[in-house]
Amino acid sequence: MTSRRMIEWLRHGQPGDAIAINAWVRTKRELKDFAFVEVNDGSSLQGLQVVVPSTLPDYEAVLRSLTTGASVSVEGVLVASQGKNQRIELKAESIQIWGTADPETYPLQKKRHSFEFLRTIAHLRSRTNTLGAVFRVRNACSAAIHEFFQTRGFLWAHTPIITTGDCEGAGEQFSVTSLNLNQLPKTPEQAVDFSQDFFGRPTYLTVSGQLEAEIMAMAFSNVYTFGPTFRAENSNTSRHLAEFWMVEPEMAFCDLGGDMDLAEAFLKHVFQSVLEKCPEDMAFFNERIDPSVLSTAETIINQEFARITYTEAIALLEKAERTFEYPVEWGLDLQSEHERYLAEDLFKRPVIVTDYPTGIKAFYMRLNDDERTVAAMDILAPNIGEIIGGSQREERLDVLERRMLAQHLNLEDYGWYLDLRRYGTVPHAGFGLGFERLVQFITGMTNIRDVIPFPRTPLSAEF
Ligand code: 4AD
Ligand code: MG
Repeated sequence: MTSRRMIEWLRHGQPGDAIAINAWVRTKRELKDFAFVEVNDGSSLQGLQVVVPSTLPDYEAVLRSLTTGASVSVEGVLVASQGKNQRIELKAESIQIWGTADPETYPLQKKRHSFEFLRTIAHLRSRTNTLGAVFRVRNACSAAIHEFFQTRGFLWAHTPIITTGDCEGAGEQFSVTSLNLNQLPKTPEQAVDFSQDFFGRPTYLTVSGQLEAEIMAMAFSNVYTFGPTFRAENSNTSRHLAEFWMVEPEMAFCDLGGDMDLAEAFLKHVFQSVLEKCPEDMAFFNERIDPSVLSTAETIINQEFARITYTEAIALLEKAERTFEYPVEWGLDLQSEHERYLAEDLFKRPVIVTDYPTGIKAFYMRLNDDERTVAAMDILAPNIGEIIGGSQREERLDVLERRMLAQHLNLEDYGWYLDLRRYGTVPHAGFGLGFERLVQFITGMTNIRDVIPFPRTPLSAEF
């Protein structure tokens, strides 16, 4: 049953090549003495046209079973195609049907389905052109990310999914427990007695691997994580998932400038690599999803990102000749409308905003000399808003302790994190990239639910 993937034949196959392919039927067109059946095995946007001659044994019966969605193996010979849509086609000599798909009930028929409808059939939607292209690009992004870091000597660190801390301090964690929720053990004070829980204390799904990545960076200098993260924020938007993938590089002996340089080089590399590996899929997105996909990619690759401070960003927003729903004032967090105004309308390319007010950022960010701002950086992208969030970390023990106390954190819970500042501390920095937001940015897909195979969002965890 092994055979080369279809894309190999579509690209390099020559008339006369005897081949075998395994695939699913997309469409069928019956003519007088033969039928055209387009099949696809997921390796490319373009399918392979199979010519089924009426001289084939059991022609009528075979043809009846070759409906959209059926799985087949086809053996035959490649021939030059007379049609203008393809260079070559496969003249079938034998066809084996593995599984039929009843056209009365198979939900994917030859028409445009809405993305909302396709989400309800996430077990089948990967067989459509758009979702197929999305998941190939997603795969190419993953490969490009590993390639970028591996060629620069970064160690891929596997950080835990189950944690006890709250890295971002936003209280948006999912609890992990093996206690019987109908019969919770109680302490004398009537609180839940977590000493009887699996880990003997409250545990959660991680919101970020950063703190553990910092541990690893203090041994391997440059590391990155790439894995699932979880946030129980009740945000039903086109850019939020409860389970999403994050890429988090962490670099020892690095400041905020080095952090920004890495982030910019990183995004440029991923775009470049995806354009090279998935040219057909990218052309498809440009034609069908968003006509600015290719020009955006060109901009990312060839233009320098804008760099401004938060204070400058506030001044620009105050000068904007439009009104915002959320107020603009120094000290307030930037909302998505502000971020998009800066990236989309004003700079028309990604903008790196640095040095945010202390009060709106996490405890681990390095305090600037002005004591009002921290060495943070967010990268804002057109159409997306915040795609990367990062910072230089506070490496001074006394300053870190002071900031943690101010945020009412229990220093004992973070003993190991503080140890990193006690033993061989160095300036270090890193960032987190929302992987699905990156895939959205590259493909132009408007809803984040359509760039991850099985989205988890409020009230939705099917498949
Ligand atoms: O800005 P965030 O919260 O930063 C951190 O978690 C840091 N620990 C990262 C670091 O410095 N190592 O999240 C990082 C990125 C955001 O910029 C956004 O792209 C993405 O993660 N993100 C989400 N993506 C999808 N759904 C959500 N609910 C997301 N929350 C954050
Ligand atoms: Mg952030």
